[in-house]
Amino acid sequence: MKTAVLGYGTVGQGVYRMLCSARGLEPGPVLVREGKKKEPFQVTSLEEILADADVKAVVEVMGGVKPAFTYASRVLESGRHFVTANKALVAARGLELSEIARRTGAGFLFSAACGGGVPLLHNISLAVESDSLRSVSGILNGTTNYMLHAMQTRGWDYARALAEAQALGYAEADPTADVSGLDAARKITLACAVAWSRLPDRGIECEGIESFSAGDVADLQSRSLTCRLIAAGKPAGRTVSAYVEPTVFSPGAPECSVADNYNMARYEGANSGPLVFIGQGAGRFPTASAVLRDLSCIVQGQRAMLSADCAAVEADNSREQHPYYVRCAAEAAQALPVKALLANGPTVRLLTEAISVHAMHTLAQKIRKDGGEIFFAGMKEA
Ligand SMILES: NC(=O)c1ccc[n+]([C@@H]2O[C@H](COP(=O)([O-])OP(=O)(O)OC[C@H]3O[C@@H](n4cnc5c(N)ncnc54)[C@H](OP(=O)(O)O)[C@@H]3O)[C@@H](O)[C@H]2O)c1
Repeated sequence: MKTAVLGYGTVGQGVYRMLCSARGLEPGPVLVREGKKKEPFQVTSLEEILADADVKAVVEVMGGVKPAFTYASRVLESGRHFVTANKALVAARGLELSEIARRTGAGFLFSAACGGGVPLLHNISLAVESDSLRSVSGILNGTTNYMLHAMQTRGWDYARALAEAQALGYAEADPTADVSGLDAARKITLACAVAWSRLPDRGIECEGIESFSAGDVADLQSRSLTCRLIAAGKPAGRTVSAYVEPTVFSPGAPECSVADNYNMARYEGANSGPLVFIGQGAGRFPTASAVLRDLSCIVQGQRAMLSADCAAVEADNSREQHPYYVRCAAEAAQALPVKALLANGPTVRLLTEAISVHAMHTLAQKIRKDGGEIFFAGMKEA
């Protein structure tokens, strides 16, 4: 299957290289910006790709929603298969693309958009054919995992961990989407859409790692707890619960062993039970390998990851409950259902009774709005 590529950056170059030797696939033209054409196989307009009747599939690895959505629509309208690694595109416009793909009979797959090389969406999309999934969660952002791992094993503070992540190319010059949890939130949006045909484009509660301090590291270590940034989703009535938050794990949980910029994803099927995947969540070839796997799935007949009845919903985290580990001012702690006070003083550390994710995130927002500081992390047993 001759496959064109839109974008020749980190992932695009990996996709092109892999297409040159993949079984059943061959490289087609590669779209680059006007004035950037350096190789004979590169073109500078989508028209040149659509004019090539031998091109049967197009991979989009440019990023962003514009013009990626316009290009994707035109590719799918032409009946060609479309594979993307672009989570922003699928989270924002995936339902519209899926509708076009169904109408024209084209394939639309996006495994690489969630977890890079970790085959989470691929496996969920196969599992839902025969099993019903109870939950999906994981460490879905490699940059923040690198930072959290470094802070907890090398004694680095937040600023140094971020600077090193940037030096290694894991974090962007503007790291906001990673450290705020937004990147992980987009990924769990996609996982919910594939797992339960509900795409939560509103209402995802999202707490990143910006409040995690060296003092938190020391206190958690004294209790043998490990902190990771977790994105999680579950069915909740007609919608889903979906949130991102730091989470502390007891020794023995697989999350504790996820080092550096690795990702870990898990889902639990009613019949399969829990399954865990650990691997490279980003990078040229791990991500390109997920793109190529999608293309092979299309060759074998798979057409969709989103079902025809997939709908946009508002996430509801009001019934999803667990205890929290919290550091905040003593006064602010009075609003919390305290189960155990771990450290007293003007700043306290405590464990709460189980409370809803919505209540905890709302309370943290209020504390910050009033000028206070808080670090909170969900608590999970091994
Ligand atoms: N990098 C990863 O490890 C990874 C992992 C999973 C998913 N992804 C996703 O994969 C996509 C690509 O990521 P990347 O890291 O490969 O980004 P990148 O290195 O910035 O590459 C994107 C390329 O697309 C080009 N481009 C952008 N808009 C274009 C347009 N309108 N016409 C032609 N070329 C255009 C860019 O050119 P200019 O440089 O001239 O702007 C750049 O060469 C993103 O959606 C990202 O979220 C990446």
